[in-house]
Amino acid sequence: MIEFPAVQKQVIRNHYDVSTLFYRLLWGPHIHHGYWEGQESSARAQVQLTERLARLAEVQPRSRVIDIGCGMGGSSVWLARNLQCEVTGVTLSAVQKKWATSAAWLRGVRPRPKFLRADAEQIEFPAGTADLLWSIECTEHLFNKPAFFRRSAEWLRPGGRFALLAWLAGKDPLTASQVEQTKAVCKGMFCPSLGSQDDYVSWFEQAGYRVLKTGLWTRQVEQTWEICLQRVNRSGVRLLARLLGQNHTLFLDHFQAILDAYRSGAMEYGYFVAEKIG
Ligand SMILES: C[S@@+](CC[C@H](N)C(=O)[O-])C[C@H]1O[C@@H](n2cnc3c(N)ncnc32)[C@H](O)[C@@H]1O
Repeated sequence: MIEFPAVQKQVIRNHYDVSTLFYRLLWGPHIHHGYWEGQESSARAQVQLTERLARLAEVQPRSRVIDIGCGMGGSSVWLARNLQCEVTGVTLSAVQKKWATSAAWLRGVRPRPKFLRADAEQIEFPAGTADLLWSIECTEHLFNKPAFFRRSAEWLRPGGRFALLAWLAGKDPLTASQVEQTKAVCKGMFCPSLGSQDDYVSWFEQAGYRVLKTGLWTRQVEQTWEICLQRVNRSGVRLLARLLGQNHTLFLDHFQAILDAYRSGAMEYGYFVAEKIG
């Protein structure tokens, strides 16, 4: 695991409160990578990532889902619309909670997802009441990842599943320059640590799961950052971010760092489907 302890939770919250608008303008309603099979648009690639995870996890219609780190509600809305799931989305950001709630209401989504502003490292749900925990690109921001996996496993019924996508530290041993590249990403994207694929597997196992599927999609997703870089360079987004303060330009300035880290093997992008042993 690569650690960058200087990150603070309040800074992560503030980042999403302020930058959600940038993500929406630059990218779309999903704050996650796209998955490319060919020449599809970035909007299509974002939905493809969601679809692929749902297929891998074999999400059952009408599942009770907790979407951990739900952003603007992109996945929650998709799961409710396409699989009639009853979704509760959790986000650290008050802005995202309002955004997701309004988006679901305006789009007439049924069953209507519920969104909470809460810290996934603190919130409690009744034991055994969820069929599926779903999390796309949130665990990077958590401070005690093994403890989160142990606590959240309690919310699942036996046999329930966790479907997860995450930015990963590359395979050990990393060279000194790969470690520096990964730390630069942690700094710019507010991640107190990045676990490797092996770290995630062992956190799942220690929390009472069997890992059913895991693999890497780095090559299929990295185009995300080429497109984002082009859009930042062509638009006035950097200027707007500068007006809002240094932290908000920080993440824009690190898009190239992520691309470099993926290309050098310092970072990977991984999927995991795990089942709670019952
Ligand atoms: C990169 S965005 C991903 C959003 C969403 N999963 C998606 O794919 O569109 C990261 C999300 O994690 C949330 N997050 C970060 N730390 C969190 C925490 N401790 N508790 C709850 N949400 C958190 C942020 O508020 C944000 O919504």
